[in-house]
Amino acid sequence: MNRNCNTPAMNSGELVKLGLKGITARVLECKKCPLHENATNKVIIRGSERPKVLFIGEAPGKNEDESGIPFCGRAGKVLDELIDYMALEENEYAIINTVKCRPPNNRKPTHSELKTCRPFLLAQIELLDPEVIILLGNTAEQAFCVSPLKWGEAVNMQEGKYLVKLYHPAALLYRRSLMEQQKEMIDLNKKLWQKI
Ligand code: URA
Repeated sequence: MNRNCNTPAMNSGELVKLGLKGITARVLECKKCPLHENATNKVIIRGSERPKVLFIGEAPGKNEDESGIPFCGRAGKVLDELIDYMALEENEYAIINTVKCRPPNNRKPTHSELKTCRPFLLAQIELLDPEVIILLGNTAEQAFCVSPLKWGEAVNMQEGKYLVKLYHPAALLYRRSLMEQQKEMIDLNKKLWQKI
């Protein structure tokens, strides 16, 4: 797949062979970066294992660390609102993050943390094999892409596979005015997942 993207620092191919359950086991035992030291729970995936659309967020926050479920707090409510707006059914999407452990004080993951966790991210993407990847914000873009994307402009990665960068739901919490722009970007791209 031509993702125009970073190559993994570790071998994500080995992880792909383990399947999604094997990846979960590897994440649970992972101590490759300091983030694991304060993690109450590793936060791995929410949603379908055969998603049409895959959302990639930044990192678990407090609620996610406590529950082990991606986007289950306030930003998650906004994401759920967007998913409703996109008219996606429960079995049509999945949500993952660039790193699986909560960074202290909700800071952004460092470049090194992103690089260490990237093989898990890439292996999850390969196994989930979505038609559309939605990068939620700049950190997801940084984790997945070498060159910057334009907000809301879909990139065709290979036949039938698209990549789009949208605003992170937390940004919409603090600037509700961005919600209108987010919905416009969704409207522009909805043909990618709504094949009517
Ligand atoms: N923000 C994220 O990027 N991911 C989560 O899981 C929750 C909040």
